[in-house]
Amino acid sequence: MTGDGFFQYLPAKHALEKLTDEDLRAPLASAAWGQEFVEAAPLTLVFTAKFSKTTNRYGQRGVRYVYMEAGHAAQNVHLQAEALGLGSVAVGAFDDASVSNVLSLPDHLEPIYMVVVGYCRS
Ligand SMILES: Cc1cc2nc3c(=O)[nH]c(=O)nc-3n(C[C@H](O)[C@H](O)[C@H](O)COP(=O)(O)O)c2cc1C
Repeated sequence: MTGDGFFQYLPAKHALEKLTDEDLRAPLASAAWGQEFVEAAPLTLVFTAKFSKTTNRYGQRGVRYVYMEAGHAAQNVHLQAEALGLGSVAVGAFDDASVSNVLSLPDHLEPIYMVVVGYCRS
């Protein structure tokens, strides 16, 4: 999510697909309990999960694996942001249904985590 729109990451192609030109940062900030930095930041990554992909194999235990993996992925974003001299903040405070609504997520995808990336104030 940027001021230029909302993009979906396609892992198989390692590519971004633009889903909308609309700047959704303000409604996303509202969905994130009004945290203003979500609107101000140039980039927010929204991690979504299709839980059934993991729970079909591991049962309820798979739920924790999904969260573990989201943590791994988010940590890589934090490390890359640091390497680029940028700041990043983990965001877990948001309303799931509102985020899904703002992003028009399909039913099988649940928003589980966000990482906001921006320039550090010095
Ligand atoms: C899983 C997780 C979710 C978090 N969610 C938020 C959040 O929604 N908003 C926020 O400002 N900080 C959030 N944080 C960041 C913590 O608040 C932050 O690490 C804490 O303020 C300490 O930061 P500091 O050590 O840089 O001062 C989250 C941290 C974690 C690990």
